[in-house]
Amino acid sequence: MLQKPSLRAVRGRLLWFVDDPAIAGARAYRYLDDGIMIIRNGMITAIGEHFAMERQMAPGIEMIDTGRHLVMPGFIDAHLHFPQTQVIASYAQGLIDWLNRFTFIEEQRFANPSHARKVAAFFVDALLRNGTTTAAVFGSVHPASAEAFFEAADQRNARMVAGKVMMDRNAPAPLLDTARQAYDETQELIGRWHGHGRQQVAIAPRFAITSTPEQLEAAGALMREHPDCLMMTHLSESRQEIETVASLFPEARDYTDVYDHFGLVGRNSLFGHCIHLGERERLRLAGAGAVAVHCPTSNLFLGSGLFDWQRARDSGMTVAIASDIGAGTSYSMLRTLGEAFKVQRLLGHTLDPFAAFHAVTLGNATALRLDQRIGSFAPGREADFVVLDAGATPEMAHRLERVTSLADELFLLMTMGDERAVRDTYVMGERFLALA
Ligand code: GUN
Ligand code: ZN
Repeated sequence: MLQKPSLRAVRGRLLWFVDDPAIAGARAYRYLDDGIMIIRNGMITAIGEHFAMERQMAPGIEMIDTGRHLVMPGFIDAHLHFPQTQVIASYAQGLIDWLNRFTFIEEQRFANPSHARKVAAFFVDALLRNGTTTAAVFGSVHPASAEAFFEAADQRNARMVAGKVMMDRNAPAPLLDTARQAYDETQELIGRWHGHGRQQVAIAPRFAITSTPEQLEAAGALMREHPDCLMMTHLSESRQEIETVASLFPEARDYTDVYDHFGLVGRNSLFGHCIHLGERERLRLAGAGAVAVHCPTSNLFLGSGLFDWQRARDSGMTVAIASDIGAGTSYSMLRTLGEAFKVQRLLGHTLDPFAAFHAVTLGNATALRLDQRIGSFAPGREADFVVLDAGATPEMAHRLERVTSLADELFLLMTMGDERAVRDTYVMGERFLALA
């Protein structure tokens, strides 16, 4: 989609990260209590204090005044499934039961492209309503599902990463492709969509249980042929899953080793969940620069386990955070952060609010290798941002009366907030209005 020529300024309380708070502490973020961000044709061209920027501003420039709300880079969701929007809240007993009784039934509906288009439009609007401006999204096995998703994202000019899932065994026949077909269809998607506007194609073998060795081999070949494509899959989510993988790949040292054998462990690799990894696996993922994607609402809903973020960090792993819709129960990255905090508390750790908001902005942008484009505010970055209201509901406003610091305001947002706290979402400097 072409951008209309435009020049505008956003005035308000601007907060963004330039580094990881776990490394840089209070130097990790920038906060302007009365800031100005200038946006030309969807790109940030300047940012600074209002008093210092006034002189640089063209007279009569369009001004977006966000008052006392908080302006942050748009949220990034590092792992979710768009064909699962109508199986959220399915009454299942764990991952495998949930996949077999609900998800593998629901995803068959995406053989119908008009159904896929309808759901894709709803889904992208829902993300943007929730303040999520970029996401790494699994389609169904049908390439038309990924097409439908890219069309919806492109129409809204939203930066997205997506792929069709590759799966050629251990699922109902209508959901199976073959190693060859998955390879060819992913190649075709890359040819058509990778780098088209703001869209990027990911290589997406579903997980080791539903791919034959031949198909994992094909995924490895795709990674080698497309070194700028991300690869996303699932790893070590449930005990039952791990046992099944061990029986399917008896020669592998552990679950991570299965993916490693096929060349799927590298710096472009995103592994959903990673809950039950052994130390060897953590060190291997850390050494490869691969990303563990923590999905707290999903892990709690399915009873998968508690992801130890602290231990992952101590092993040197890169960690991203995600909703994992539809095993995840909320589209909101605010709610996702609130649940992530509780998971860490159950492990005797914590998640401080700056680390949390770093994770859903610059942290996830870095994990998706998009930190030169999105996730922070700087000249040359794309102007995707959210306007947050920590007093969005009467109950939040009541609590906000006693808030005295930025840290407390952020913690209120992640503990009580949801899409109601997202007053506006801007995509490339344009205020988002739902299309569907
Ligand atoms: N493992 C394989 N497929 C899926 C999926 O769709 N959701 C979750 N949570 N785990 C998976
Ligand atoms: Zn998933």
